[in-house]
Amino acid sequence: MSQLDIRDLRVTVAGNEILKGLNLTIEQGKVHALMGPNGSGKSTLAYTLMGHPNYEVTGGEVWFKGQNILELEPDQRSHLGIFLAFQYPVAIPGVSVANFLRTALNSHRKAKNPEDKGMPIPEFRTLMKEKMDLLKMDHSFAGRYLNDGFSGGEKKRAEILQMAALDPEFAVLDETDSGLDIDALRNVAEGVQALRGPNFGALVITHYQRLLNYINPDVVHVMFDGRIVETGGPELALKLEAQGYDWVREAHQLVTSGQ
Ligand SMILES: Nc1ncnc2c1ncn2[C@@H]1O[C@H](COP(=O)(O)OP(=O)(O)OP(=O)(O)O)[C@@H](O)[C@H]1O
Ligand SMILES: [Mg+2]
Repeated sequence: MSQLDIRDLRVTVAGNEILKGLNLTIEQGKVHALMGPNGSGKSTLAYTLMGHPNYEVTGGEVWFKGQNILELEPDQRSHLGIFLAFQYPVAIPGVSVANFLRTALNSHRKAKNPEDKGMPIPEFRTLMKEKMDLLKMDHSFAGRYLNDGFSGGEKKRAEILQMAALDPEFAVLDETDSGLDIDALRNVAEGVQALRGPNFGALVITHYQRLLNYINPDVVHVMFDGRIVETGGPELALKLEAQGYDWVREAHQLVTSGQ
């Protein structure tokens, strides 16, 4: 059962508790959106799910496919089928998009079958072309160094290209829509929609309801100060767009420091 089950998650960053007992279940095959003001802890949750070393888990569990993934190394989480598209993708000068993807794909294959000799190059090329076409990316992308000199929108598309090639069972998209032009937003959303199905769940972090017009989420959550405080359907995102976060603050008597 590949539902993601986050139970009472507590995470400290640089000595400050950021996630303060977060509970969230994303059923297999469902797409949930996560919204919330700047600094509420959305990226902290994304990094923690992937096992970034700066994020210290002080309590709670995250269950996926019968395992508490907090006990796994980041590469083991990836092999299990979890993918994170970063809010701020890092550049890897000297490593081309194609090489990076091929290494990642082959590492996944080897984790499944230690005898695997890697994907044959012609098969890999076909896969890359198919996925780049899906995202309406120029094929010259494959030969460029990963994120090196990429525009903001190109970085986001490169994240989705990785996701499409790795075909994860659960993806976290951290503000993949920010910085995209109108056409790119649609292309990226179509890339996500193409993966959608009974074996693909996702947590889509976004500030804007616009993305959710293209990726209609099953459930929308609002995070505030390290916890989920509101959960609803797509209408919740529309309400936030129209009214902002004040009503959430008032309803829960929240005071957010530094806002
Ligand atoms: N490495 C770090 N060192 C110190 N503080 C950090 C670090 N990483 C995150 N924080 C703090 O944790 C809090 C939550 O940050 P996080 O990036 O998770 O917010 P967010 O909800 O993703 O915000 P945004 O909408 O702006 O992306 C912030 O107050 C941030 O300053
Ligand atoms: Mg963030």
